[in-house]
Amino acid sequence: MTAPAVLLTGATGYIASHTWLALLAAGFKVLGVDNFSNSSPEVLNRLRLLSGQTPLFEQADVCDGAAMQSLFQRHRIDAAVHFAAFKAVGESNRKPLDYYANNLGGLITLCQTMARHDCRALVFSSSATVYGKPEQLPIREDAALASTNPYGATKLMSENILRDVEQSDPRWTMALLRYFNPVGAHESGQIGEDPRGTPNNLMPYITQVAVGQRARLQVFGNDYDTPDGTGMRDYIHVLDLADGHVAALRYLLQGKRSITANLGTGRGHSVLDLVHAFEQASGRSVPYDIVPRRPGDVDACYADPSLAQRVLGWRAGRDIHSMCVDSWRWQSMNPHGYAAPPAR
Ligand code: UFG
Repeated sequence: MTAPAVLLTGATGYIASHTWLALLAAGFKVLGVDNFSNSSPEVLNRLRLLSGQTPLFEQADVCDGAAMQSLFQRHRIDAAVHFAAFKAVGESNRKPLDYYANNLGGLITLCQTMARHDCRALVFSSSATVYGKPEQLPIREDAALASTNPYGATKLMSENILRDVEQSDPRWTMALLRYFNPVGAHESGQIGEDPRGTPNNLMPYITQVAVGQRARLQVFGNDYDTPDGTGMRDYIHVLDLADGHVAALRYLLQGKRSITANLGTGRGHSVLDLVHAFEQASGRSVPYDIVPRRPGDVDACYADPSLAQRVLGWRAGRDIHSMCVDSWRWQSMNPHGYAAPPAR
């Protein structure tokens, strides 16, 4: 039997690059595409090193219909994992049209091209952001959905678009995966998260303080309704997340029904829990100041991950300590991310 061929969009991004390796290890053939709008070509060198094979890659924008058409004409593609999207909440408030055009335009172009080439198996990167301000914890997939910013709206609209597409033609089979808070890195320290400019997310900010690139962490609020007053989130190791995509693809390719599933651990950790776990794992101190809340943040957000366990046979196994150890290894070996060769 020939290995199923999978198209990865946004392939050199943080979650996608880890998923790429996991798919290769699971025996899939992978074709990556990315326009490098928020990632580095150096990822491809690291993937070559880690996998022992030259990654099959094309530079293209998923919004470019002609480029997508050409890609599907030249390659056999059995399924797609669609990661390519803009993802910064604050930026989405400043540039809503860019977010709608890129995130929805890319999705629509991809699906149109797939259908034209009789390829109708899709894994989509959704987000816990679709739950808005959660009313009940842990969050189940049937919870109320809402968006609180243009980025979140693109994820919610994308889910709705995909459900309509699936309804219109039963040959489609889709996994809509709602990620909680991905952190960590490959245990080699060769690939990891490399945000451009000031990090928006907590873990890369912590690692940049620990490595000496930023002076102090700002903790956004200590008056939330949580045990220590700081925000609680469901941090999940990116390698577990990558395995979740492999499980979802296997499931879809067995001809199973579409699924919408949370990918989280089911455990909540506060900002200060993460700071302390990181200090212990790295042996570095992370000085911080408590500052006012960040607009739009919720008190707590963590998953009920039981559906993914039941249906996909997947669960997140790595704990907060290994998330911190692996994030620190990546940051300390690559103080400037992909911009410079890794330290030995
Ligand atoms: N935080 C700080 N200081 C920082 C950064 C974050 O205290 O410098 C706090 C936040 O207030 C929050 C927690 O750390 O309590 C996590 O914040 P992140 O920005 O890392 O993650 P969010 O939960 O806000 O956002 C993530 C994704 C979004 C997604 C959202 C909901 O980054 O894309 O989850 O799913 F929309």
